[in-house]
Amino acid sequence: MDDRSRQQSQTSPMERSNDTIPDRLLAWIDRQPQRRLTMAQFMSWALYDPQSGYYSSRTGQFGDRGDFVTAPTLSADFAELLAVQAQEFWQVLGKPDRFDWVEMGAGAGHFAADFLAALAGTELESALHYRVIERSPQLQQQQQQRLEPWRDRVAWWTWEDWAAQPTIGVAFSNELVDAFPVHRLQWQGSEWQEIYVTEQAGVLQEELGPLSSPELTAVFTDLGLEAAIARLPEGYRTEVHPAAKQWLAQVAKGLQRGYLLTIDYGYSGDRYYAAGRRDGTLQAYWQQRFHSDLYARPGQQDLTAHVNFSALEVWGEQLGLERLAFTEQALFLMALGLGDRLMALSQPQTGVDLSRLLQRREVLHRLLDPTALGNFGVLLQGRHLSPEERSQSLRGFTVPAGV
Ligand SMILES: C[S@@+](CC[C@H](N)C(=O)[O-])C[C@H]1O[C@@H](n2cnc3c(N)ncnc32)[C@H](O)[C@@H]1O
Repeated sequence: MDDRSRQQSQTSPMERSNDTIPDRLLAWIDRQPQRRLTMAQFMSWALYDPQSGYYSSRTGQFGDRGDFVTAPTLSADFAELLAVQAQEFWQVLGKPDRFDWVEMGAGAGHFAADFLAALAGTELESALHYRVIERSPQLQQQQQQRLEPWRDRVAWWTWEDWAAQPTIGVAFSNELVDAFPVHRLQWQGSEWQEIYVTEQAGVLQEELGPLSSPELTAVFTDLGLEAAIARLPEGYRTEVHPAAKQWLAQVAKGLQRGYLLTIDYGYSGDRYYAAGRRDGTLQAYWQQRFHSDLYARPGQQDLTAHVNFSALEVWGEQLGLERLAFTEQALFLMALGLGDRLMALSQPQTGVDLSRLLQRREVLHRLLDPTALGNFGVLLQGRHLSPEERSQSLRGFTVPAGV
């Protein structure tokens, strides 16, 4: 089983699948004025079409028996350690009577269940309101089943619900932003063109055309990368993430005061658009393997692009979400106590099943693996914090002893 951060290209970028194109997708392409979709439209269909989308029509994507493993589906340790950080967030905010933890993109609900269990019996428990914003109705159903024991504490909101009742607390996501639809661009030596998806002779094909919106290239100016872009080789392909900016705007509306905590795989802007990354980061994920045939089996495989953390920081500042800290998942979890858990496993223990002990140790190491989950970025942004709150050091963002 592979963690999603591993990069394994198995097909060449130009290889095209001859799978039958689903009628609903074909009908959608036919409805467009130029019979073509932006990659963002194609991804939206492939991931979220109500009847055929990867996240809306299938079950069993997550976990060791599914298509991919995320940190919360690997073990409860991830949510338990975040529960430690949650208590500190609450304290820094002055222990408000009501503290909302809003999870955006909750998958099959593993994180929420383990997090709520970890906080049971703590001082924070009575203030805690858990809110889930989930795009896929199918996943929402799975979450509702898994969270049945906490039905009094959990509610499902739309983005509009959240904007109508702004919260004090934390907006949290793990591997949400990598699932947002992206636009694909190609550098033509002096200008960008957009890569569209169309159909010819029963096969999905790529087609270049003018940008669907002039705003798509604003990110290069926002990040001060114009000079670096001018030097990119002709034919260079990459992605831009307007959906991530729209998401930050929604968070800024919903979060009255508190923290935005984003965990995902990605790069800083200069690394994202480095000249050597000639084909961007967008990849397909199928049967536990990354590959580059984005058009194979539409609706049956995941499509995912790395996160541009610098863009999140710069756009966040524009929207009133102030950058507070950035670290890597391995350091974050170690600072929150993963090291102590590993240490406890190495103490002599009697009556413990050795194979279970070794399994457990492997799981903890996978959360720290510098070539996979451990390398994920952890970005903390703040909203409407006082200078004292802003200057508080937070346990997950301090360098753990011995590192
Ligand atoms: C890769 S999964 C990660 C799930 C979970 N957080 C985990 O780590 O196991 C992405 C999740 O984000 C949800 N999602 C994607 N776009 C969304 C949006 N705009 N609003 C709410 N949920 C969204 C997907 O349906 C799915 O639950």
